[in-house]
Amino acid sequence: MTHASPSAQEERDAAFLEDFAALSAFGATPAGGVERQAGTAADGEQRAWLHRWLTDRGFEVHYDGLGNQFGLCTLRPGAPYVLSGSHLDSQPLGGRYDGAYGVLASAHAAHRAVQQWSSPATSPQYNVAVVNWFNEEGSRFKPSMMGSSVFTGKLPAETALATTDRAGTTVESALREIGALGDYAGPDVAAYAEIHIEQGRDLENAGRTIGVVGSTWAARKYQVVVRGEQSHTGSTVMADRRDALLGASLLVVAVRELAEQSTDIPLHTSVSEMSVEPNSPVVVAREVRLHVDLRSPDEALLDAAAKKLAEAVPGIEERASIAVEQVQTHGWGVAPFPSAGVELAAQAADKLGLSHQTVMTIAGHDSVNMKDVAPSIMLFVPSVEGISHNEGEFTHEQDVCAGTDLLTEVLHRLMAGGLDSGTGE
Ligand code: GLV
Ligand code: MN
Ligand code: MN
Repeated sequence: MTHASPSAQEERDAAFLEDFAALSAFGATPAGGVERQAGTAADGEQRAWLHRWLTDRGFEVHYDGLGNQFGLCTLRPGAPYVLSGSHLDSQPLGGRYDGAYGVLASAHAAHRAVQQWSSPATSPQYNVAVVNWFNEEGSRFKPSMMGSSVFTGKLPAETALATTDRAGTTVESALREIGALGDYAGPDVAAYAEIHIEQGRDLENAGRTIGVVGSTWAARKYQVVVRGEQSHTGSTVMADRRDALLGASLLVVAVRELAEQSTDIPLHTSVSEMSVEPNSPVVVAREVRLHVDLRSPDEALLDAAAKKLAEAVPGIEERASIAVEQVQTHGWGVAPFPSAGVELAAQAADKLGLSHQTVMTIAGHDSVNMKDVAPSIMLFVPSVEGISHNEGEFTHEQDVCAGTDLLTEVLHRLMAGGLDSGTGE
């Protein structure tokens, strides 16, 4: 019996899936996720793997002063680059797809696009480069999207480099430790593309393969410090207590109630990180630090929610005899991606016969920064049950492969100058 040899498409898909499995082994957790927070040993190992993958295929790899990793393929010396990427770092006990899928899809798509330009030999308008942005997740070092924030001039490099994790390690020393601190200035970017898992249910519910991001939800993030007074859990009479943990708990409930009270327009609210001092079983907490994260597709609603939260604070301070200090540390608005890019991506999806729809992104992505400095395109593939920042993150192989095919087509069109004219062709 003879077997039909695999088609070129099957070979491309198999190569991608094999590489994705190899990448998923770095920091792999027993429950099928990954743990490779920014600047850790696992991050260093996966970066070294990507470095080799890129250099083996003729890309030149450089690191900038914030550990952003670039792989450049220069077909037209002196011309700017179409940049495509995402991030390899993960949340603690994170999923295999968040960010890593986009970096690997960019590497494969850029390599395939280069091959398309090379045979028969034709010269694109722009070169192509792959990027692995440093610390998109913002779990070990805040804020999220750190590497692209510095690259786009939104965060001073010195501030980012001096940021510490909970153990007091700076970004600078973590980057040095994994050999990722360079002095490359970064490519001149003609256009930017990123593909990511949706991290929501809209595509799955609609039965569509591709989301083309038309705009962002707005987000506001706050660092909150609740100050009380340290005392004995047993002997301090209740009336004398200034319990920072009680104040923090009341804030957690107030933050949740903001979302519960917003019935017409979605509002997502979380208290997502908390540290308790001194965190002893026999001590009433003197201080709690917490991180508040508010998101909505309606900026006015977000303003109103922030105001409501501020109005709840005096009552909480009085009830728990504590003081609350709140500072907004990070955020972004409802902002569109260029319509010419949305159109280009939709036409590319049509050409490949992939069903698609325009979506908003609720999560932050490096493209949210990049779209402010270069024409940018953001693509989604479906997430099963919308699960993300969880070891159970999953995207079907056919969607993963379709997204990589679409990104290849998008990069090819961008390299041809497809966004210069705004026609998408
Ligand atoms: C970043 O990933 C965010 O959504 O804040
Ligand atoms: Mn991500
Ligand atoms: Mn993430």
